[in-house]
Amino acid sequence: MKNWMRAVIGLILAVASGLAQAEELQSLRGRAPLDGAEQPPEISRWMPESHALPRNYLQQPPLIPHQIEGYKVDLRQNKCLSCHSWSKAKETRATKISLTHFRNRFGTELSDVSPQRYFCTQCHVPQKDTPPLVDNTFKPMDAIVR
Ligand code: HEC
Ligand code: HEC
Repeated sequence: MKNWMRAVIGLILAVASGLAQAEELQSLRGRAPLDGAEQPPEISRWMPESHALPRNYLQQPPLIPHQIEGYKVDLRQNKCLSCHSWSKAKETRATKISLTHFRNRFGTELSDVSPQRYFCTQCHVPQKDTPPLVDNTFKPMDAIVR
């Protein structure tokens, strides 16, 4: 075989194997078309504007049964207290903040909400309809079930 023939055959083989390899390559997304036959996983559902879920134990901070987006709590304003404070609760029909929220860390009763309890969402979170992250056999205590 002449040298130039060998070179041409070599070239053809190289191109063919290159094409075969290109065929196997695919993006991380796989071969799914961009227009989305695959649906993204469903975002778990927040439960705004529902009734307050029962508590599981006495000391549990109750979950928030309503939307809190845009409710500011900072140095100058506390949106939560504009409904939940004792002076507003009657008119807004919100649950009054607990008596414990007027007590400071030394157990002294204060005339206004304790600084420890000022940032409500430190402890209270909106409720969400979601399966438990870990299977467990926890049962709410009798005292609050009855
Ligand atoms: C516009 C008035 C309003 C504002 C502002 C508001 N709430 Fe409420 N909240 C309510 C009302 C009314 C209820 C009672 C709903 C019910 O019992 O079904 C409630 C219920 C709750 C409960 C459940 C109480 C229970 O008895 O289980 C919690 C906890 C709560 N809110 C926390 C907050 C927090 C934290 C904020 C601020 C981020 C906030 N709320 C802002 C009106 C308000
Ligand atoms: C350090 C955690 C913590 C912070 C901060 C906090 N709470 Fe609570 N909250 C609790 C716990 C725990 C309970 C349930 C036990 C109790 O009553 O103390 C509760 C109970 C409540 C209740 C139900 C009261 C009742 O009589 O059933 C309301 C309403 C409430 N909190 C609103 C608020 C609001 C509004 C703020 C912000 C001004 C706030 N909490 C800040 C922990 C907290």
